[in-house]
Amino acid sequence: MKSHAGCQPFYNMANTILVGAQWGDEGKGKIIDVLTEDADVVVRSQGGNNAGHTVFIKGQKYVLHLVPSGILRKNKVCVIGNGVVVDPVSLVGEIEGLRKLGVEIGENLFLSETAHLVLPYHRELDAQREAVKGDNKIGTTKRGIGPAYGDKVARTGLRVIDLIQPERFKERLQQKIKENNEILKAFGAKPLSFKKVHEEYRAAGDYLKPFVANTVTLLYKAMSRGDSILLEGAQGTFLDIDHGTYPYVTSSNTTAGGACTGSGIPPHRVDSVMGVMKAYTTRVGGGPLPTENAVIADMLHGMGREFGATTGRARRCGWFDSVATRHACMVNGIDDLAVTNLDGLDTLEQVRVCIGYRHEGATYDYIPNDVAILAACEPVYAEFPGWKTPTDKARKWKELPVKARSYLKAIAELTGANLAIASVGPGREQTIFL
Ligand code: IMP
Repeated sequence: MKSHAGCQPFYNMANTILVGAQWGDEGKGKIIDVLTEDADVVVRSQGGNNAGHTVFIKGQKYVLHLVPSGILRKNKVCVIGNGVVVDPVSLVGEIEGLRKLGVEIGENLFLSETAHLVLPYHRELDAQREAVKGDNKIGTTKRGIGPAYGDKVARTGLRVIDLIQPERFKERLQQKIKENNEILKAFGAKPLSFKKVHEEYRAAGDYLKPFVANTVTLLYKAMSRGDSILLEGAQGTFLDIDHGTYPYVTSSNTTAGGACTGSGIPPHRVDSVMGVMKAYTTRVGGGPLPTENAVIADMLHGMGREFGATTGRARRCGWFDSVATRHACMVNGIDDLAVTNLDGLDTLEQVRVCIGYRHEGATYDYIPNDVAILAACEPVYAEFPGWKTPTDKARKWKELPVKARSYLKAIAELTGANLAIASVGPGREQTIFL
């Protein structure tokens, strides 16, 4: 008989949720990697391979999509939780790619039995739905994320637990491909071959079977032992299905609450929430970005920065929006902030921060829920003198230029969160703890 015997009451007080405090791509991969040194378990709880977390270690670049960033450190347990949507073939490719780079993956990686699968018809539907939207398209990563979460909510999805039972998987996949081929036909798209998809995904199921676990029990036991857990958020607050700039959002809860439902960790076991933000703002895909600015975009792209880790798309860029990040602090309960990419602003004469919005005679000190209003808002800016000094070699707070410190202090004041980390480059060593 299976039992939860051996679980003790919780004593651990160091479980942290890390979330993006903007529109994704805030540099969470690097911050997670730095924080992982002190964590025992790293958990992904939402999103799928639409995420791309980049980590540089000793000049080697690692891009993680589904595997938690903790995998890059020895003796860390990594969990892909129930709230993640997993494309099994993509996960196999990622594990193989990491192994080729010398990353050890074995008994340190666990995949939830109840995570939902992303299958080829989800990707096809994602592409077809975007195509018919024309100018109103969301600009998805075309990884099938929305359709996969749609199936989950409609209670028609396939899960990891189905994937690893060959007969059940074959039967359900056949049914789903039959149904979805009818929809694809209506879009004028090519139907999928069950045989081909089945062969490929069945093989991926066999490969992944050793990693599959009841991750809720596993995490419960880890907490009972006093292990500390880091919940690695993907995307960002304003891409959240409930709290983001709907409909220009992803299909999961990217905010702190999603970390609990997507892992099975109870809310009262979370000790702190860290928000990650860039010293400016970026967004990929459609939807409002009030502080968007072509000069900032050209400058950052010219430095070779701000190209998507998953799709390679050039990110839209703008000034830091304190109204948005203050809202993110409120929704997530952010205690501490990590500010990344400070060095991206090193050459500027002046740095602007959005402190409010104007729209048709009204001023807003909060994010309007109507995206049409948000898109038409004119930002109100505060200006700060630029520091015009490279910051990438700074390792301590005191080594940062005074004007850069003033800028960071203003960010903390405007958002109401505690400034905990400033990052001045992609390397682990380019991290200043405050
Ligand atoms: P989806 O998640 O692929 O459905 O895309 C929905 C929206 O979220 C699009 O605007 C994407 O560009 C955006 N998005 C999804 N994942 C990420 C991410 O990891 N970073 C930044 N934007 C993302």
